[in-house]
Amino acid sequence: MADQVRTVAVIGAGKIGELMLSGLLRSGWPVERLLATARRPARARELTERYGVRVVDNLTAVAEAEVLAVSVKPQDAAALLDEIGPKVPADKLVISLCAGLPTAFFNRRLPEGTPVVRVMTNTPALVDKAVSAISAGAYATGEHLALAEGMFSPLGATVRVPESQQDAVTALSGSGPAYFYLLVEAMIDAGILLGLPRQVAHELIVQTAIGSAVMLRDSGEHPVKLREAVTSPAGTTISAIRELENHGVRAAMLAALEAARDRAREIAAQAE
Ligand SMILES: NC(=O)c1ccc[n+]([C@@H]2O[C@H](COP(=O)([O-])OP(=O)(O)OC[C@H]3O[C@@H](n4cnc5c(N)ncnc54)[C@H](OP(=O)(O)O)[C@@H]3O)[C@@H](O)[C@H]2O)c1
Repeated sequence: MADQVRTVAVIGAGKIGELMLSGLLRSGWPVERLLATARRPARARELTERYGVRVVDNLTAVAEAEVLAVSVKPQDAAALLDEIGPKVPADKLVISLCAGLPTAFFNRRLPEGTPVVRVMTNTPALVDKAVSAISAGAYATGEHLALAEGMFSPLGATVRVPESQQDAVTALSGSGPAYFYLLVEAMIDAGILLGLPRQVAHELIVQTAIGSAVMLRDSGEHPVKLREAVTSPAGTTISAIRELENHGVRAAMLAALEAARDRAREIAAQAE
């Protein structure tokens, strides 16, 4: 990738844009070949102080970079594209990190034929443990996909999915870290209810989460098998699982993800 692209610009470098900047820098991408844009001068200063990255205005970024990674909130995307769209030469690669927005949303606002790749990453990018799902828009080729993969693989795993699956990906892995944090938070509270000091409950459950995640990744076993191994007949775990089922935790998860998927669709409709 480094051979094909001289400069990457992160347009609207907020939380996700910053993850991308810092990931590229950790992977050895030279800072002088990165640009960022921000709306507020204070944010621009912060990015320069933190990473030494040059923060420019959007049109300078468009003129200087070969790859434009758009990481504004979906509701800000139309205004941004009104500003930069007519100035984007059709040979630049546009990477959208925006939840919900289809590549067609970008193509309607960019010169005909502009390649757009849609990426849904997640916040574990901060520790190089993201999963980024990558889809090609109408004019993006295998080469563009490979280019995007090259940029996101230093941040963790990458998978290619058809664009029609991206709202589901957003609900599952884009928002996914929040579900795990909520579970951990609830389990720490449960530990406190049972009389453990907060710090001890925290340590026990964080390490349990890490251990379980590594086993899920490395054992090759289905989660049901791993759960069964902890669930002895008439034991403590099955008593807890009965309560989880009584309280509809599985049904809640299905409904929650459906709601997140629907919200992604709604956001896209509102951004139009
Ligand atoms: N957070 C997540 O876990 C997550 C996960 C996957 C995908 N995403 C997607 O990533 C995108 C960014 O989310 P985020 O959480 O990083 O939001 P964020 O922190 O608000 O970042 C967006 C940044 O874009 C700036 N901006 C807005 N309009 C601009 C413009 N015209 N020119 C230059 N900069 C502009 C904003 O400036 P201000 O600071 O002035 O508002 C802000 O700093 C969203 O589309 C979201 O769907 C987020």
